[in-house]
Amino acid sequence: MRPPMCRFRSGIAFGLLCVVWQGLAVSEDEPEPAPMTLREAVAGRFEIGAGVSDRIFDKEENWPLLTRQFSSITPENCMKPQSIQSTPGQRDYALADRFMQFAEDKKLHIVGHCLVWAKDDRTEPWYYLDGDRPASKEVLLSRMRADIRDIAGRYRGRIGMWDVVNEALDDGEHYLRPSGWVTACGESFIAEAFRAAHEADPEAMLIYNDYQNELPKKREKMLRLVDSLQSQGVPIDAVGLQGHYEIDRVPFEELEQTILEVKARGLKVVISELDIDLIPRSRWWAENGRHREAMAKENPYANGVPADVLERQAEQYGRLFRLFVEHADTIARVSFWNLHDGESWLNSFPWARVNHPLLFDRNREPKPAYAAVLRSLRGE
Ligand code: GLA
Repeated sequence: MRPPMCRFRSGIAFGLLCVVWQGLAVSEDEPEPAPMTLREAVAGRFEIGAGVSDRIFDKEENWPLLTRQFSSITPENCMKPQSIQSTPGQRDYALADRFMQFAEDKKLHIVGHCLVWAKDDRTEPWYYLDGDRPASKEVLLSRMRADIRDIAGRYRGRIGMWDVVNEALDDGEHYLRPSGWVTACGESFIAEAFRAAHEADPEAMLIYNDYQNELPKKREKMLRLVDSLQSQGVPIDAVGLQGHYEIDRVPFEELEQTILEVKARGLKVVISELDIDLIPRSRWWAENGRHREAMAKENPYANGVPADVLERQAEQYGRLFRLFVEHADTIARVSFWNLHDGESWLNSFPWARVNHPLLFDRNREPKPAYAAVLRSLRGE
């Protein structure tokens, strides 16, 4: 908004007027100071991260958003046991190495995810076998130790935090989720996994990671596990709460209670895979899956999300971050699962729909939730 006429007029008074006007106009013209980013607003109180595609090194369009906003990344899949070793005895590090290199080039911290995923559908069937027979506890543990030594050892000193064991707790009546791990080893594989990880990379923060472990039933099991590991002198540093929430059902009180319980045991908490799903999904697993057929047709936000829903999501994200700030002495990291709405796993799991669970939309533009999180981080 420069006054165009000023260039053509003369006269001292008019000139002076122009100078003043230009001065004002220039300051109006100044670009707004770049808005504070998440990582700036967090100001080192905890790490702020995102789970990202294994091939982030090819997705240049995502790099500016990633590096401006976040300080830490978790590979979505390429460091998982089944990705590294789909064939017995052959560890393939091609993708994981490229991921590591990318993160280091961009000066991002790296979360290793994960050394053991204690579910049968996430463990190759051969892993449990010794020839044709079920592997004994000794065989299974020595296989696991060798893998952890190799994987965590390969990246020793370069990975700040490792999810050592993922999702070992049962959702139902058992303490641990029934699996080949538990059949062969009982609880002992968890302690041994942490010991092996610590040996392989003594500086890394070692995490037990799970979902819905802030809810009372599973929290009780998690604290039992933590107490058991601690009583055996196992080197566990933190508990990961995945934080895959649904709108209007974010368990704020349970979350705070869990943070306090974990803190009382001298451990840190990481919020490892945060998102707020706009399309409730928990009924998918209810009543033997009898709602699935109908749910698989639900796609309410294919053409966008009403403003009031985005506002509700923003309010809930804002409240979560107020909690994280309040407990920043215990929270070591908050990571979203994934970078922006277009990349979220919730577009395809457990059925295909257009979802909007994150702070940035498909064009990588900030949503109301982003502003709400920033306000919470700034204490506003
Ligand atoms: C779990 C795992 C993650 C990821 C998400 C969904 O929470 O820990 O690695 O697979 O499910 O994408």
